[in-house]
Amino acid sequence: MLEQFAKDVDEGLSQPKKELSSKYFYNKKGDALFMEIMKMPEYYLTRSEMEIFTEQTQDLINAFSVTPSNYFELIELGAGDGSKTRKLLAALSDQGYQYDYMPVDISKNVLDLLEDSLQKDLPQVSVKPKHGDYFEILQSLKNSHHPKVVLFLGSNIGNMSDETATDFLYQLGANLQAGDKLLLGADLIKPAEVVMPAYDDKQGITREFNINLLHRMNNELEASFDVDAFEHAPEYNETNGVAKSFLKSKRDQHVAINATGKVYQFTAGEKIHTETSRKYNDEILLDILKNTDFTIAHKFTDRKQYFADYILNRE
Ligand code: AVI
Repeated sequence: MLEQFAKDVDEGLSQPKKELSSKYFYNKKGDALFMEIMKMPEYYLTRSEMEIFTEQTQDLINAFSVTPSNYFELIELGAGDGSKTRKLLAALSDQGYQYDYMPVDISKNVLDLLEDSLQKDLPQVSVKPKHGDYFEILQSLKNSHHPKVVLFLGSNIGNMSDETATDFLYQLGANLQAGDKLLLGADLIKPAEVVMPAYDDKQGITREFNINLLHRMNNELEASFDVDAFEHAPEYNETNGVAKSFLKSKRDQHVAINATGKVYQFTAGEKIHTETSRKYNDEILLDILKNTDFTIAHKFTDRKQYFADYILNRE
C-alpha cells in the first residue's frame, strides 16, 4: 500500500509536468474534508443531484425498467453516506419492490456506518454491504444472473480522464447483462462563474483538501514539503468543460522524500496537477459510450440544468 503510494508519487513528480493522483486525497482527513465540501454553499453538485433524487424519484424508478414482483439488485459503487439513495430506497420499499441494496466501498468503516444508519432509518430495506474493489465485487455478482441497477453518482466519473472513463464503463458493461441499467451522475458544462467557486470556496476548505496531499506525503512517506510554500490553484476551461486543480510552488525549492530516496526540484510558479473534474454534455458522453456496451436511455436534470443523472442501458 505505502510502497504503491511511494511509487506513484515518484512517477508523478518525475514527469516534466508534475502530477499526483487524486485518489490519494482520500485518507481519514481527506474523507472528512470532502464531507465538508459537499455541505458548502458553493458546491452545487451535491444539491443538484439531491434535487433530482428528491423530485424525480418515481421517474428514476420507472427508468430502471424493473417490476415490483421481479427481484433485482441495486448496487451502489462508492456509496458514501447514501444520502441521495435513501429517497430511492424508501420509495422502492413503499411500493413493494423486491430487491437488495448492495453498497460497495473500499472503506469498511464507511460501509459499517451506512449499514447502521440505514438499519435505524429504513429497517424495511435489505442492505447487503460489499466490501472491496468495484470490479471484484461486480465479478462476484455476475454469476447471480439477477437483473441489476448500478448507481455511480456524484460525478465521480468526472475524476477520470476520458480514456479511463471509457475503459471503466467498458469493464462495467462486461460485468453486466443485456437490459441491466447504470445510473450515472455527471456534472454538466456550465459557465466558469458557477464552476470555479465550487473548487475555490471562500472558506478555503477545497484548498485544505488539496494541501492535505502534501501533509499525507509528509506523514506517510517522510517527505519534507513546506505546506505553506504551495498554493491551491484551480483552473476551468468552459469550452471543453475540464476543471483541474493544481498545487503551485510559491518559490524555487527542493523537497526530499525519504520513501522514494529522492529529491525533487520545483521552480517558482511550477504546478503539480492533482485532480481533474470533468464536466459533461451529451456529445462528450456519447463519444465515450461508443466504445462501450451502453446507450443513453434517459436523462434527468435539476431545474437549473447544472447536473444530469443519465440512465444507461446495457445493450
Ligand atoms: C469526488 N469528486 C466528484 C469531487 C469533484 O467534484 O471532482 C472531488 C472534489 N474535488 C474538489 N472538490 C470536490
